[in-house]
Amino acid sequence: DDAECEERIVAAKQSLGDRCVILGHHYQRDEVFRHADLTGDSLKLSREASKSNAQYIVFCGVHFMAEVADILSRPEQISILPDLAAGCSMADMANLAAVERCWRELGQLFDPDEVVTPVTYINSAADLKAFCGRHNGIVCTSSNAQKILDWSFGQRQKVLFFPDQHLGRNTGYRMGIPLDEMVTWDFAKPMGGLTEDEIRRARIILWKGFCSVHQMFRPEHVDRFLERYPDTRVIAHPECSFEVCQKAQYIGSTEYILKTVREAEPNTRWLVGTELNLVNRLAEELKPQGKEVHFMSPTVCMCSTMFRTDPQHLLWVLENLVEGHTVNRIKVQEGDARWAKLALNRMLQLA
Ligand code: 13P
Ligand code: SF4
Repeated sequence: DDAECEERIVAAKQSLGDRCVILGHHYQRDEVFRHADLTGDSLKLSREASKSNAQYIVFCGVHFMAEVADILSRPEQISILPDLAAGCSMADMANLAAVERCWRELGQLFDPDEVVTPVTYINSAADLKAFCGRHNGIVCTSSNAQKILDWSFGQRQKVLFFPDQHLGRNTGYRMGIPLDEMVTWDFAKPMGGLTEDEIRRARIILWKGFCSVHQMFRPEHVDRFLERYPDTRVIAHPECSFEVCQKAQYIGSTEYILKTVREAEPNTRWLVGTELNLVNRLAEELKPQGKEVHFMSPTVCMCSTMFRTDPQHLLWVLENLVEGHTVNRIKVQEGDARWAKLALNRMLQLA
Protein backbone atom coordinates (compact mmCIF):
# COMPACT_ATOMS: atom_id res chain seq x y z
CA ASP A 1 0.00 0.00 0.00
CA ASP A 2 0.90 3.70 -0.14
CA ALA A 3 2.33 3.91 3.38
CA GLU A 4 4.53 0.86 2.82
CA CYS A 5 5.73 2.21 -0.52
CA GLU A 6 6.61 5.50 1.15
CA GLU A 7 8.58 3.76 3.91
CA ARG A 8 10.46 1.59 1.44
CA ILE A 9 11.43 4.62 -0.69
CA VAL A 10 12.82 6.34 2.40
CA ALA A 11 14.71 3.19 3.39
CA ALA A 12 16.15 2.65 -0.10
CA LYS A 13 17.25 6.28 -0.29
CA GLN A 14 18.92 5.95 3.07
CA SER A 15 20.85 2.88 2.11
CA LEU A 16 22.02 4.47 -1.18
CA GLY A 17 23.17 7.59 0.67
CA ASP A 18 25.06 10.10 -1.45
CA ARG A 19 25.58 7.56 -4.24
CA CYS A 20 22.16 8.59 -5.48
CA VAL A 21 20.52 11.97 -6.05
CA ILE A 22 16.83 12.36 -6.88
CA LEU A 23 15.97 15.38 -9.04
CA GLY A 24 12.32 16.44 -9.13
CA HIS A 25 10.62 18.79 -11.58
CA HIS A 26 7.94 21.12 -10.17
CA TYR A 27 5.20 19.29 -12.12
CA GLN A 28 5.73 16.04 -10.26
CA ARG A 29 2.91 14.81 -8.06
CA ASP A 30 3.32 15.33 -4.29
CA GLU A 31 3.94 11.67 -3.45
CA VAL A 32 7.02 11.73 -5.70
CA PHE A 33 8.07 15.37 -5.31
CA ARG A 34 8.57 15.03 -1.56
CA HIS A 35 11.36 12.50 -2.13
CA ALA A 36 13.40 14.78 -4.38
CA ASP A 37 16.76 15.93 -3.01
CA LEU A 38 16.75 18.86 -5.42
CA THR A 39 13.84 20.47 -7.21
CA GLY A 40 13.67 23.08 -9.93
CA ASP A 41 12.76 24.16 -13.44
CA SER A 42 14.52 22.72 -16.47
CA LEU A 43 17.48 25.10 -16.28
CA LYS A 44 18.11 24.66 -12.58
CA LEU A 45 17.83 20.88 -12.79
CA SER A 46 20.21 20.67 -15.74
CA ARG A 47 22.76 22.70 -13.75
CA GLU A 48 22.23 20.42 -10.76
CA ALA A 49 22.80 17.38 -12.96
CA SER A 50 26.03 18.86 -14.34
CA LYS A 51 27.34 19.63 -10.81
CA SER A 52 26.30 16.38 -9.17
CA ASN A 53 28.85 13.88 -7.94
CA ALA A 54 26.30 11.14 -7.36
CA GLN A 55 26.81 7.83 -9.13
CA TYR A 56 23.07 7.64 -9.91
CA ILE A 57 20.92 10.56 -11.00
CA VAL A 58 17.28 9.53 -10.71
CA PHE A 59 15.25 12.03 -12.69
CA CYS A 60 11.63 12.47 -11.66
CA GLY A 61 10.65 14.41 -14.72
CA VAL A 62 10.40 13.50 -18.39
CA HIS A 63 12.62 11.77 -20.91
CA PHE A 64 14.45 14.79 -22.37
CA MET A 65 15.44 15.86 -18.82
CA ALA A 66 17.05 12.50 -18.10
CA GLU A 67 18.86 12.77 -21.46
CA VAL A 68 20.21 16.19 -20.48
CA ALA A 69 21.37 14.76 -17.15
CA ASP A 70 23.21 11.99 -19.00
CA ILE A 71 24.83 14.40 -21.46
CA LEU A 72 25.98 16.86 -18.80
CA SER A 73 27.19 14.36 -16.22
CA ARG A 74 30.43 12.40 -16.34
CA PRO A 75 30.54 9.14 -18.32
CA GLU A 76 30.62 6.96 -15.20
CA GLN A 77 27.48 8.57 -13.79
CA ILE A 78 24.16 6.93 -14.59
CA SER A 79 20.98 8.80 -15.42
CA ILE A 80 17.70 7.01 -14.65
CA LEU A 81 14.10 7.72 -15.62
CA PRO A 82 11.71 5.84 -13.28
CA ASP A 83 9.07 5.30 -15.99
CA LEU A 84 10.39 5.07 -19.55
CA ALA A 85 6.97 6.10 -20.89
CA ALA A 86 7.35 9.57 -19.36
CA GLY A 87 7.93 11.52 -22.55
CA CYS A 88 6.89 15.02 -23.57
CA SER A 89 4.29 15.43 -26.30
CA MET A 90 5.73 18.79 -27.27
CA ALA A 91 9.26 17.42 -27.61
CA ASP A 92 7.84 14.74 -29.92
CA MET A 93 6.43 17.39 -32.26
CA ALA A 94 9.87 17.97 -33.72
CA ASN A 95 12.11 15.20 -34.97
CA LEU A 96 15.47 15.21 -36.68
CA ALA A 97 14.18 14.16 -40.11
CA ALA A 98 11.61 16.97 -40.19
CA VAL A 99 14.07 19.61 -38.96
CA GLU A 100 16.65 18.50 -41.52
CA ARG A 101 14.00 18.70 -44.23
CA CYS A 102 13.19 22.25 -43.09
CA TRP A 103 16.92 23.14 -43.23
CA ARG A 104 17.18 21.75 -46.78
CA GLU A 105 14.07 23.61 -47.89
CA LEU A 106 15.40 26.86 -46.46
CA GLY A 107 18.52 26.06 -48.47
CA GLN A 108 16.53 26.68 -51.66
CA LEU A 109 16.36 30.37 -50.68
CA PHE A 110 19.70 30.99 -48.91
CA ASP A 111 22.46 29.13 -47.13
CA PRO A 112 20.86 28.49 -43.73
CA ASP A 113 24.25 27.99 -42.09
CA GLU A 114 25.09 31.59 -43.02
CA VAL A 115 21.70 33.11 -42.28
CA VAL A 116 19.94 31.11 -39.54
CA THR A 117 20.77 30.20 -35.93
CA PRO A 118 18.89 27.04 -34.92
CA VAL A 119 17.60 27.27 -31.35
CA THR A 120 16.02 24.30 -29.66
CA TYR A 121 13.95 24.53 -26.52
CA ILE A 122 15.40 22.09 -23.98
CA ASN A 123 12.10 20.17 -24.38
CA SER A 124 13.47 18.23 -27.35
CA ALA A 125 15.26 14.99 -28.14
CA ALA A 126 19.04 14.81 -27.82
CA ASP A 127 19.56 14.47 -31.59
CA LEU A 128 17.89 17.87 -32.09
CA LYS A 129 20.20 19.42 -29.54
CA ALA A 130 23.02 17.77 -31.49
CA PHE A 131 21.65 19.34 -34.70
CA CYS A 132 21.95 22.74 -33.00
CA GLY A 133 25.48 21.91 -31.87
CA ARG A 134 26.52 20.99 -35.41
CA HIS A 135 24.97 24.09 -36.98
CA ASN A 136 26.38 26.64 -34.52
CA GLY A 137 23.09 26.86 -32.70
CA ILE A 138 22.11 26.61 -29.08
CA VAL A 139 19.61 25.30 -26.53
CA CYS A 140 17.31 27.48 -24.41
CA THR A 141 14.91 26.98 -21.53
CA SER A 142 11.87 29.00 -20.55
CA SER A 143 13.96 30.97 -18.08
CA ASN A 144 16.70 32.12 -20.44
CA ALA A 145 15.01 32.27 -23.86
CA GLN A 146 15.49 36.02 -24.25
CA LYS A 147 19.20 35.93 -23.49
CA ILE A 148 19.61 33.01 -25.87
CA LEU A 149 17.73 34.77 -28.68
CA ASP A 150 19.84 37.90 -28.14
CA TRP A 151 22.95 35.78 -28.56
CA SER A 152 21.46 34.03 -31.60
CA PHE A 153 20.72 37.30 -33.41
CA GLY A 154 24.28 38.35 -32.65
CA GLN A 155 25.42 35.35 -34.71
CA ARG A 156 23.09 35.43 -37.71
CA GLN A 157 20.05 37.36 -39.02
CA LYS A 158 17.36 34.78 -38.46
CA VAL A 159 16.41 32.15 -35.89
CA LEU A 160 14.77 28.78 -36.47
CA PHE A 161 13.07 28.03 -33.15
CA PHE A 162 11.72 24.58 -32.26
CA PRO A 163 9.63 22.82 -31.06
CA ASP A 164 7.49 25.35 -29.09
CA GLN A 165 6.05 28.15 -31.19
CA HIS A 166 4.60 29.89 -28.11
CA LEU A 167 7.84 30.24 -26.18
CA GLY A 168 9.46 31.55 -29.37
CA ARG A 169 6.68 34.00 -30.18
CA ASN A 170 6.19 35.29 -26.63
CA THR A 171 9.92 35.83 -26.22
CA GLY A 172 10.41 37.42 -29.64
CA TYR A 173 7.52 39.80 -29.00
CA ARG A 174 8.96 40.89 -25.66
CA MET A 175 12.20 41.66 -27.50
CA GLY A 176 10.31 43.99 -29.83
CA ILE A 177 10.03 41.74 -32.87
CA PRO A 178 6.69 42.42 -34.58
CA LEU A 179 4.31 39.48 -34.96
CA ASP A 180 4.48 39.59 -38.76
CA GLU A 181 8.24 39.01 -38.61
CA MET A 182 7.64 35.71 -36.82
CA VAL A 183 6.20 33.01 -39.07
CA THR A 184 4.99 29.53 -38.17
CA TRP A 185 6.59 26.64 -40.02
CA ASP A 186 3.99 23.93 -40.58
CA PHE A 187 6.22 20.86 -40.81
CA ALA A 188 3.40 18.87 -42.47
CA LYS A 189 3.56 21.11 -45.55
CA PRO A 190 6.24 21.72 -48.19
CA MET A 191 8.22 24.88 -47.40
CA GLY A 192 6.38 24.98 -44.06
CA GLY A 193 3.28 26.21 -45.87
CA LEU A 194 4.97 29.62 -46.24
CA THR A 195 5.67 31.84 -49.25
CA GLU A 196 9.20 32.75 -50.25
CA ASP A 197 8.48 36.35 -49.32
CA GLU A 198 7.25 35.39 -45.82
CA ILE A 199 10.38 33.36 -45.19
CA ARG A 200 12.71 36.08 -46.45
CA ARG A 201 11.01 38.72 -44.29
CA ALA A 202 10.88 36.54 -41.16
CA ARG A 203 13.26 37.11 -38.26
CA ILE A 204 12.05 34.07 -36.33
CA ILE A 205 10.77 30.90 -37.97
CA LEU A 206 8.66 29.16 -35.33
CA TRP A 207 8.13 25.42 -35.44
CA LYS A 208 4.44 24.54 -35.19
CA GLY A 209 4.74 22.71 -31.87
CA PHE A 210 2.95 23.40 -28.59
CA CYS A 211 2.46 22.04 -25.09
CA SER A 212 -0.79 20.13 -24.75
CA VAL A 213 -1.14 21.29 -21.15
CA HIS A 214 -0.49 25.02 -21.60
CA GLN A 215 -2.59 25.27 -24.74
CA MET A 216 -5.65 24.56 -22.54
CA PHE A 217 -5.43 27.99 -20.92
CA ARG A 218 -7.53 30.51 -22.85
CA PRO A 219 -7.69 34.30 -22.71
CA GLU A 220 -11.39 34.10 -21.84
CA HIS A 221 -10.48 32.15 -18.68
CA VAL A 222 -8.48 35.17 -17.57
CA ASP A 223 -11.24 37.61 -18.56
CA ARG A 224 -13.90 35.68 -16.67
CA PHE A 225 -11.79 35.47 -13.54
CA LEU A 226 -10.91 39.16 -13.65
CA GLU A 227 -14.58 40.11 -14.00
CA ARG A 228 -15.23 38.50 -10.63
CA TYR A 229 -11.95 39.44 -8.95
CA PRO A 230 -10.47 42.48 -10.69
CA ASP A 231 -7.54 42.81 -8.27
CA THR A 232 -6.06 39.45 -9.33
CA ARG A 233 -2.47 39.26 -10.52
CA VAL A 234 -2.06 37.04 -13.55
CA ILE A 235 1.09 34.98 -14.02
CA ALA A 236 1.69 32.58 -16.91
CA HIS A 237 4.27 30.19 -18.26
CA PRO A 238 5.59 31.26 -21.69
CA GLU A 239 4.37 27.95 -23.18
CA CYS A 240 0.89 29.54 -22.95
CA SER A 241 -0.48 31.11 -26.11
CA PHE A 242 0.37 34.67 -27.11
CA GLU A 243 -3.21 35.78 -26.30
CA VAL A 244 -2.95 34.40 -22.75
CA CYS A 245 0.51 35.87 -22.17
CA GLN A 246 -0.74 39.26 -23.35
CA LYS A 247 -3.16 39.21 -20.43
CA ALA A 248 -0.52 38.28 -17.85
CA GLN A 249 1.46 40.82 -15.80
CA TYR A 250 4.16 38.23 -15.15
CA ILE A 251 5.57 35.61 -17.52
CA GLY A 252 8.24 33.05 -16.73
CA SER A 253 9.43 29.54 -16.00
CA THR A 254 8.12 27.36 -13.20
CA GLU A 255 10.93 28.50 -10.90
CA TYR A 256 10.14 32.15 -11.72
CA ILE A 257 6.43 31.60 -11.03
CA LEU A 258 7.15 30.09 -7.61
CA LYS A 259 9.58 32.83 -6.67
CA THR A 260 7.32 35.67 -7.82
CA VAL A 261 4.22 34.47 -6.00
CA ARG A 262 6.16 33.51 -2.86
CA GLU A 263 7.86 36.90 -2.66
CA ALA A 264 4.68 38.93 -3.25
CA GLU A 265 2.94 40.78 -0.41
CA PRO A 266 0.60 38.73 1.78
CA ASN A 267 -3.15 38.78 1.11
CA THR A 268 -2.77 38.92 -2.66
CA ARG A 269 -4.76 36.91 -5.19
CA TRP A 270 -3.10 35.10 -8.08
CA LEU A 271 -4.27 33.37 -11.24
CA VAL A 272 -1.61 30.97 -12.45
CA GLY A 273 -1.27 29.50 -15.95
CA THR A 274 0.86 26.41 -15.51
CA GLU A 275 0.57 22.75 -14.53
CA LEU A 276 -1.89 21.77 -11.79
CA ASN A 277 0.45 19.95 -9.40
CA LEU A 278 2.63 23.03 -9.07
CA VAL A 279 -0.37 25.33 -8.61
CA ASN A 280 -2.05 23.14 -5.98
CA ARG A 281 1.16 22.82 -3.98
CA LEU A 282 1.78 26.56 -4.12
CA ALA A 283 -1.81 27.32 -3.09
CA GLU A 284 -1.45 25.10 0.00
CA GLU A 285 1.92 26.54 0.90
CA LEU A 286 0.82 30.16 0.72
CA LYS A 287 -2.58 29.89 2.38
CA PRO A 288 -1.14 30.83 5.80
CA GLN A 289 0.06 34.12 4.28
CA GLY A 290 -3.46 34.90 3.17
CA LYS A 291 -2.48 34.45 -0.47
CA GLU A 292 -5.05 32.98 -2.78
CA VAL A 293 -3.58 30.99 -5.64
CA HIS A 294 -5.95 29.88 -8.41
CA PHE A 295 -5.51 27.62 -11.39
CA MET A 296 -6.19 29.42 -14.67
CA SER A 297 -8.35 26.82 -16.37
CA PRO A 298 -11.84 25.83 -15.20
CA THR A 299 -11.04 22.24 -16.21
CA VAL A 300 -8.36 20.05 -14.70
CA CYS A 301 -5.28 19.85 -16.88
CA MET A 302 -2.25 17.99 -15.74
CA CYS A 303 0.78 16.87 -17.65
CA SER A 304 -0.08 13.22 -18.13
CA THR A 305 3.50 12.21 -18.85
CA MET A 306 4.92 13.98 -15.80
CA PHE A 307 2.19 12.14 -13.89
CA ARG A 308 3.48 8.77 -15.11
CA THR A 309 6.23 8.84 -12.52
CA ASP A 310 4.54 7.41 -9.47
CA PRO A 311 5.94 6.26 -6.11
CA GLN A 312 5.86 2.61 -7.29
CA HIS A 313 8.19 3.30 -10.21
CA LEU A 314 10.46 5.39 -8.03
CA LEU A 315 10.61 2.61 -5.46
CA TRP A 316 11.29 0.01 -8.14
CA VAL A 317 14.33 1.83 -9.55
CA LEU A 318 15.70 2.64 -6.08
CA GLU A 319 15.39 -0.89 -4.72
CA ASN A 320 17.05 -2.23 -7.84
CA LEU A 321 19.97 0.15 -7.28
CA VAL A 322 20.24 -1.04 -3.68
CA GLU A 323 20.55 -4.58 -5.01
CA GLY A 324 23.15 -3.51 -7.54
CA HIS A 325 20.92 -3.55 -10.65
CA THR A 326 20.55 -0.53 -12.87
CA VAL A 327 17.13 -0.30 -14.49
CA ASN A 328 15.75 2.35 -16.87
CA ARG A 329 19.09 3.92 -17.66
CA ILE A 330 18.93 6.77 -20.18
CA LYS A 331 22.05 6.82 -22.30
CA VAL A 332 22.45 9.17 -25.24
CA GLN A 333 24.57 7.75 -28.01
CA GLU A 334 28.11 9.07 -28.15
CA GLY A 335 27.88 10.99 -31.45
CA ASP A 336 24.75 12.90 -30.47
CA ALA A 337 25.90 13.43 -26.90
CA ARG A 338 29.07 15.25 -27.95
CA TRP A 339 27.28 17.78 -30.18
CA ALA A 340 24.30 18.15 -27.86
CA LYS A 341 26.69 18.93 -25.02
CA LEU A 342 28.27 21.68 -27.08
CA ALA A 343 24.86 23.32 -27.62
CA LEU A 344 23.91 22.86 -23.95
CA ASN A 345 27.20 24.25 -22.69
CA ARG A 346 26.84 27.29 -24.95
CA MET A 347 23.58 27.93 -23.13
CA LEU A 348 24.93 27.27 -19.64
CA GLN A 349 27.86 29.63 -20.21
CA LEU A 350 25.57 32.43 -21.41
CA ALA A 351 22.75 32.19 -18.92
P1 13P B 1 10.30 24.90 -16.82
O1 13P B 1 10.20 24.17 -15.54
O2 13P B 1 11.71 25.01 -17.29
O3 13P B 1 9.60 26.22 -16.76
O4 13P B 1 9.55 24.03 -17.93
C1 13P B 1 8.22 23.74 -17.91
C2 13P B 1 7.90 22.50 -18.65
O5 13P B 1 6.93 22.40 -19.35
C3 13P B 1 8.78 21.37 -18.48
O6 13P B 1 8.41 20.42 -19.36
FE1 SF4 C 1 5.98 18.53 -22.19
FE2 SF4 C 1 4.03 20.27 -21.65
FE3 SF4 C 1 4.34 18.13 -20.12
FE4 SF4 C 1 6.16 20.10 -20.04
S1 SF4 C 1 4.02 20.24 -19.40
S2 SF4 C 1 6.55 17.90 -20.14
S3 SF4 C 1 6.12 20.76 -22.18
S4 SF4 C 1 3.79 18.15 -22.31
